[in-house]
Amino acid sequence: QNIAFMAGQVGKDGYRHYMEKELHEHPVAIGQTLQRITDPASKTIALPKMPFDPAQVPRVTITACGSAFYAGMVGRYWLESLARVPVEIDVASEMRYRDAPQPDKGVALLISQSGETADTLGVLRSLKKAGQSIVSVLNVEHSTMGRESDLVLGMVAGPEISVASTKAFTAQLSVLAALSIDFARARGTIDKTREETLTASLLDLPSRAAEVFTRVEAIQEMARIVAEARDVLYLGRGICTPIAFEGALKLKEISYIHAEAYAAGELKHGPISLIDRTVPVVAIAPSTILFDKTLSNLQEAKARGGRILAFTDAAGAKRLEGVAEHVVILPDVDAFVAPILYAIPVQILAYEVALLKGTDVDQPRNLAKSVTVE
Ligand code: G6P
Repeated sequence: QNIAFMAGQVGKDGYRHYMEKELHEHPVAIGQTLQRITDPASKTIALPKMPFDPAQVPRVTITACGSAFYAGMVGRYWLESLARVPVEIDVASEMRYRDAPQPDKGVALLISQSGETADTLGVLRSLKKAGQSIVSVLNVEHSTMGRESDLVLGMVAGPEISVASTKAFTAQLSVLAALSIDFARARGTIDKTREETLTASLLDLPSRAAEVFTRVEAIQEMARIVAEARDVLYLGRGICTPIAFEGALKLKEISYIHAEAYAAGELKHGPISLIDRTVPVVAIAPSTILFDKTLSNLQEAKARGGRILAFTDAAGAKRLEGVAEHVVILPDVDAFVAPILYAIPVQILAYEVALLKGTDVDQPRNLAKSVTVE
């Protein structure tokens, strides 16, 4: 619908594709989004007042589709671990027909770039009827979902033209991170110092995100290996598991290579039987608390002849010597914001593979930017 109109208005600024341009807009999208919802001077979160008391919320129900759903999965880790609030999450097409019981004073959190996705809108309406407070994280704030929500938390990502979502994803994550800190403060589960540390790590992200683009050559090298494959396995652990899902989705969407994502611990419960020289394993592995576990999963994959390709940091790269065939070394960041940073190279990898495959990057076959039918 209005995408075609916007495509006429928004240029590619010299980039080959809208997707390439929008990938380069990650730092700005994160920065502008945070500018609206943080106070840099006091290093605190400054979200609008919630139309409910976060301290009294018994459960948050997160619903979305596609990449927005994976952002929601990261949001679940943050809300649970920081704010100690129980979270329920599902894709909209399932949530819509589950007829799940909803708690008194519950909050429904909908995430959507467009604010028009039919299934997500359907869930918004049914959870509203079920008495839940409706909070939406939207890029297009004046959308149908925007109009029907009790509170809209806007991303400030700017128009996203490329069908595959890029900068809206990191903007969604930025909002969800801020919301989790806000809830945690209200519920008394973090103190002021912790809030300042977490907020500072968010505010530092635009610069770290810009640094990722100095690693494009290393990502291109990885892309050459991936482009040869028929199947690719993406692995992550904990808060980076959803980033593995996002990587696999993006690769499928724009390069048409079959990719699956797993929580690395599940490898031995099935997908390890697929591994041989022809199935590259892409690991999302910042050296956080779960790194040792991921490392041992990757060693298992390597022992079966797997070719390990890893996104990690300098300390992780040292530990992956002899295990990974190729690593992309990313800037060091606080574990809290790692999923936001790591989403960027993972999306760039899919873009570079699509370039090698010569696919129609901005308009992949059979896909639409905004799915307004069920
Ligand atoms: C489509 C797009 C995806 C997007 C999903 C959800 O499938 O191709 O990139 O993640 O819709 O869209 P929304 O606008 O609700 O975020």
